[in-house]
Amino acid sequence: MPAVVLVGAQWGDEGKGKATDLLGGDVDYVVRYQGGNNAGHTVVIGDQKYALHLLPTGVLSPDVVPVIGNGVVIDPGVLLSEIDGLAARGIDCGRLLISANAHLIMPHHKAIDKVSERFLGKAKIGTTGRGIGPAYGDKIYRVGVRVQDLLDPGILSQKIEAALTEKNQILTKIYNRRGLEATKVLDEYLGYAERLRPHIADTSLILSRALDEDKVVLLEGGQGTLLDIDHGTYPFVTSSSPTSGGACAGSGIPPNRLTRVIGILKAYTTRVGSGPFPTELLDEQGEWLRQTGGEYGVTTGRNRRCGWFDAVIARYATRINGVTDFFLTKLDVLSGLERIPVCVAYDVDGVRHDEIPMTQTEFHHATPIYEELPGWQEDITSAKTFDDLPPNAQAYVRALEEMSGAPISAIGVGPGRTQTLQIRSLI
Ligand code: GDP
Ligand code: IMO
Ligand code: MG
Repeated sequence: MPAVVLVGAQWGDEGKGKATDLLGGDVDYVVRYQGGNNAGHTVVIGDQKYALHLLPTGVLSPDVVPVIGNGVVIDPGVLLSEIDGLAARGIDCGRLLISANAHLIMPHHKAIDKVSERFLGKAKIGTTGRGIGPAYGDKIYRVGVRVQDLLDPGILSQKIEAALTEKNQILTKIYNRRGLEATKVLDEYLGYAERLRPHIADTSLILSRALDEDKVVLLEGGQGTLLDIDHGTYPFVTSSSPTSGGACAGSGIPPNRLTRVIGILKAYTTRVGSGPFPTELLDEQGEWLRQTGGEYGVTTGRNRRCGWFDAVIARYATRINGVTDFFLTKLDVLSGLERIPVCVAYDVDGVRHDEIPMTQTEFHHATPIYEELPGWQEDITSAKTFDDLPPNAQAYVRALEEMSGAPISAIGVGPGRTQTLQIRSLI
């Protein structure tokens, strides 16, 4: 003990990378428990900026063991180029552990992700095109290829043959695309096997022993609560469980060992891809937020959709995840506004909703009911303590805390490692 979970409280890109990195000095293991290289976590250390996709953020802290848990889907080519990219910048990934039970993203998953989105036309999800949904689909359908299969060329060959017998029919006959050659895929993946072999481990066992020895384990979620396959804005979600419950299934750490759940909450809201977003601003204010906050996707480079803070969603994240502490990020971005609207409830067809409506149809009809809070003009990027913040910024934080239902224990006032106001310890 302790095992701390860090989850995105909105639609992803809340600043999880920065928050995980900040805790790196206090933890022994950082575990990714779901998602894959759809994630893009940014960490800024001094004048260096890192964008991590599959590797847990702990890889940037020399004393941390980074772990890719069983719940992650791994594109081995992407993982190796990420490792090589960091090595070229002097960061060693030799300590990385990869669960033998994690599933692999195969070339046909990427092909099907892209082509099925094109077929959906206007109804598309807006996926990252990285093969995430098809890989999880095969996992649930019990025909997936796992990391441990890389260690047994006979099994790997059988699984690839079996998969392509079916998937090539889908690619050629339904989507009118070229099929994939099993021998080529096998050769490619056997090449990855050689390099990944030293990292493959029974990570659940290792983490359990570490907790027995009082080591600190941080579970780093990808995506966010509203992108959760069960609790998000389905079908406009990712295909895994970023919420805190998913941390147990995706790491093999049981629920009764979790000690803290930290929700990462942006001081406004963003979303990438399709789906409902009640506080979205389609006007120049949205553009101002995008430009001031640098809201462009780390993985796909797409413009992020931007809007005001939504307290209904924050409360929902508190409830679904059991958030014990919030880390409020990007407060600095809001400096310079006269007044800051905050959504406190929704109007759905003339009826006030204080909680997310039960059906997706109602959620699509939700329009925000705003309260306006007074803004502040000062630059807060050099603030060191909560007391350094202008009174209106303090009041904004207090109001968000009150509405969200859990204490705000840290505040981000800039992207840098040191631009954080710590109110309470997070471990
Ligand atoms: P993640 O996916 O949750 O890790 O978040 P992303 O890295 O995709 O997006 C968050 C962006 O905000 C990154 O560019 C971070 O460097 C930046 N960031 C994080 N915290 C803060 C903050 O408190 N203030 C500012 N201005 N930027 C921040
Ligand atoms: P981080 O970890 C924001 C979104 C995609 C799309 C939906 C499904 O950086 O917060 P997928 O490729 O997962 O099947 O796409 O989920 N999405 C993210 N949005 N941040 C992310 O990760 C995301 N990962 C997936 O844009 O709408
Ligand atoms: Mg991101």
